[in-house]
Amino acid sequence: MKHLLSIADLGADGIADLLTLTDSFVEISSRSIPKVPVLRGKTVASLFFEDSTRTRLSFETAARRLSADVISFSVSTSSLNKGESVRDTVETIEAMGVDALVVRHGCAGVPQQITSWFEGSVINAGDGWHEHPTQALLDTYTIRQHRGSLRGLRVLIVGDVKHSRVARSNMEAFTMLGASVTLVAPGTLLPPNTKSWPVETSHDLDACLGDADIVYLLRMQQERQEDALVPSLREYATDFGLDRGRMARLSPDALVMHPGPMNRGVEIAADVVEDPRCVVIDQVRNGVPVRMAVLFLLLGSNSHLAEAHSGEPDETGRPKGSRIDA
Ligand code: NCD
Repeated sequence: MKHLLSIADLGADGIADLLTLTDSFVEISSRSIPKVPVLRGKTVASLFFEDSTRTRLSFETAARRLSADVISFSVSTSSLNKGESVRDTVETIEAMGVDALVVRHGCAGVPQQITSWFEGSVINAGDGWHEHPTQALLDTYTIRQHRGSLRGLRVLIVGDVKHSRVARSNMEAFTMLGASVTLVAPGTLLPPNTKSWPVETSHDLDACLGDADIVYLLRMQQERQEDALVPSLREYATDFGLDRGRMARLSPDALVMHPGPMNRGVEIAADVVEDPRCVVIDQVRNGVPVRMAVLFLLLGSNSHLAEAHSGEPDETGRPKGSRIDA
């Protein structure tokens, strides 16, 4: 595989393999020196045209833990402000000898477009309302870690589905792995084409909460909303926010997830974040090894990959994958 642009690029088997590969990198991340030389000599550039805290830091940390060199491109201090095009920017970065570009852009399709201008690998770190595949991978990894498998789980994706690339990638990954997904939102925050999606929809969170295994909350993405799509944030919080009262009706082994950044008091009440069922910090923690696995899959050598894929213990009792640092 050369690029990771969407969840469909991986398919169900590809996701399962990537999650298994991630186990090796979780083990490496737990070591006192969480670094292996498998991408030594490779250069990864992050090209973020949109704001980000966790995705960018997570990719850059992942690349460094694999011993790749990292170039960080910040739009606010670049020649894009002098009118340089995305294509010229990409070709300039390529001329410096870069092996992979991690791209976030406000328009759907830009990472795909960049593949025709750039020889190396392109990873989509979020494009418009379209996809955010590594978010879906770290979320499926987190669910698998807590619940063993996604098969048969009932997942609610709640909130601003319309503007959410996370909702699109996650819905696809979750259903591919056997979960059933219900999108819960006011009509104005659901896209018009959900009939062709493998999901159910609801406007009533309280009616769905009782038998949910996962409640996945989305941020209200006001920067993407041209008109007011909810009467007020307070009313939205009353009808769709996860608060202490709703938590009391959730099953004791349900999980609450959020991709961040959270709007406390809107989609999630501050005390819900402290509930042991809320696994937001696990999601962030798992982001690094999941992205190590993605970078390794795209840039690592096949012999390393074969070794890392095998989770069997070696003669030292460690998983074989951990010997990629040998
Ligand atoms: C999301 C994004 O930017 O797509 N955040 C993230 O990557 N963790 C979701 C959001 O902005 O609401």
